[in-house]
Amino acid sequence: MPQMRALEKSHPAEGLWLISASVPEIGPDDVLIRVKKTGICGTDIHIWNWDDWAAATVPVPMITGHEFAGEIVAFGCDVSGLSIGQRCSGEGHLVGNDSRQSRAGKFHLDPGTRGIGVNEQGAFAEYLCLPAFNVVPLPDDIPDDIGVLITGAGPIGIMAAAVVRHAGARHVVITDINPDRLALADTVAKVRTVNVTREGLGDVMSELGMTEGFDVGLEMSGNQAALDQMVEALVMGGKIALLGIPPGKSPVDWSRIVFKAITVKGIYGREMFETWYKMITMLQNGLDVLPVITHRFPVAEFDKGFAAMKSGQSGKVVLDWT
Ligand SMILES: NC(=O)c1ccc[n+]([C@@H]2O[C@H](COP(=O)([O-])OP(=O)(O)OC[C@H]3O[C@@H](n4cnc5c(N)ncnc54)[C@H](O)[C@@H]3O)[C@@H](O)[C@H]2O)c1
Ligand SMILES: [Zn+2]
Repeated sequence: MPQMRALEKSHPAEGLWLISASVPEIGPDDVLIRVKKTGICGTDIHIWNWDDWAAATVPVPMITGHEFAGEIVAFGCDVSGLSIGQRCSGEGHLVGNDSRQSRAGKFHLDPGTRGIGVNEQGAFAEYLCLPAFNVVPLPDDIPDDIGVLITGAGPIGIMAAAVVRHAGARHVVITDINPDRLALADTVAKVRTVNVTREGLGDVMSELGMTEGFDVGLEMSGNQAALDQMVEALVMGGKIALLGIPPGKSPVDWSRIVFKAITVKGIYGREMFETWYKMITMLQNGLDVLPVITHRFPVAEFDKGFAAMKSGQSGKVVLDWT
């Protein structure tokens, strides 16, 4: 069995371990990807920390990681339309095709969805087996004139800020409690940053000449106080996308949401594959999210990468597997 390096949650405890594992075997519908770079996601930090969500969700042992770029080195006998050497990333949510949602074309709502690096062997490895269906080869539609509030200036919040700015939103405001993160958001996305420990959101809104509130809220912190603040800052009939993962159950003031007629949408991953197409189009149109990467490490120094993420003094951290 050929071996590869991989980062594994080997024990139900804090941390990840660099191990030697067998290169995965591929089935007729799969491709084998030589992973070159991986991103450390906030979700990987939950898994590293082994919080309640991770302990309840991730079986041990498990090779983690779901953000990657690499190239195809082998494919199964039923795969067509892809070639050896093709640079690619891939959709990390594995879906079936027999649920009602999948048969309606809504793959991202398949109740049987499994995530690589969460429920299935992941991408923090030199090789990844992925269904060919999930491969995204590498080569705007948010309406103008709306106000967007983003809570949480982690890598995801900052990239979202850059995207809504690129898509032409009028007022984009991002909050955090960490000055380093807000400084990075300012550099990358050039949006109004608010340190909520020092500044009131209401004052910022009046400064921007906003009278009615934000049309759209993107909750990307997982913090309950941030969600409460977002509900208050939204316009009647506003929309909230909930992406941040609270560490456990957290109380919500539902009556505020009811009386403001707010629509709350949970986001799990993305709308396969529409989000990938939109993102690639925006990158080709000049969206620049590169400055959000603040640290790059060879995989042997993965602990430095996770320490950087956990310090809160980083943007996106990339591990190099070449
Ligand atoms: N729904 C999904 O599919 C999905 C996928 C990936 C990540 N996530 C989650 O999305 C969130 C963002 O990911 P990330 O990688 O950017 O994480 P991150 O933890 O690096 O960023 C969260 C940020 O929120 C900030 N924050 C804390 N309290 C705040 C408050 N009261 N107001 C405003 N900001 C506050 C933190 O300082 C931090 O900078 C995480 O909770 C992550 O687990 C969800
Ligand atoms: Zn992720």
